[in-house]
Amino acid sequence: MDVKQNPGGNFNWIAPVYDALAFLVFGRKLQRAQGIFLDRIPPKASVLLVGGGTGWLLEQLLVRCKPERVLYLETSSQMVARATRRMARKSLPGTVIFWVGDETTLDPSNQFDVILTPFLLDLFNEQTLQNRLIPSLLRVLKPGGMWLVTDFVLPPAWWQKVLLWTMIRFFRLIAGIETRTLANWQQCLTDAGLSHQARKPQVDGMVSAEVWTR
Ligand SMILES: C[S@@+](CC[C@H](N)C(=O)[O-])C[C@H]1O[C@@H](n2cnc3c(N)ncnc32)[C@H](O)[C@@H]1O
Repeated sequence: MDVKQNPGGNFNWIAPVYDALAFLVFGRKLQRAQGIFLDRIPPKASVLLVGGGTGWLLEQLLVRCKPERVLYLETSSQMVARATRRMARKSLPGTVIFWVGDETTLDPSNQFDVILTPFLLDLFNEQTLQNRLIPSLLRVLKPGGMWLVTDFVLPPAWWQKVLLWTMIRFFRLIAGIETRTLANWQQCLTDAGLSHQARKPQVDGMVSAEVWTR
């Protein structure tokens, strides 16, 4: 099933060219940023990966972290198809459940040690982050559990602000994401009671890779 009313948009159309577009604009920088804190994940962890796209981060996670199990939660069936093909093609080790759905479909009895949200929070406005996305994900994160976020932040230079504005407009048009501006997701995570543990600026300050704990 495809999630029709997802405020994070519908990425099915753009799935075939998403990675190529990201590479055209940023090279490998966005991928590198997502991998920065992977080494903090202990072996045999239960991991929820939300909005993983075509599966580049899943591959790194399985190879580098040896998790016990992964739930791959994605609203785009086309993205999930690409991630499953990648796993089969590369014979990646590990137990992965691919689930086409959003955070509202999570079962609270299924708890995780680690949550990963790579370039997901920037799709939503602050209201949705505060009232829907963050509470839904917190319900399935174990006490003391870790949340690794990699996402855009308000950048320092004027040309970066223009690039960010253009990207948000583009994804509003193509995928129908709800947000018009970049939400202050760091403040939303703090307000939700998460503790900030580490931060590394990436992509000349446009992106932040961060570790939060519940
Ligand atoms: C900007 S793309 C990032 C993809 C990938 N993380 C990357 O960096 O290449 C956002 C992804 O989140 C997915 N998505 C959007 N809203 C979602 C939600 N509520 N739950 C799960 N996935 C969602 C989209 O389908 C899309 O694949």
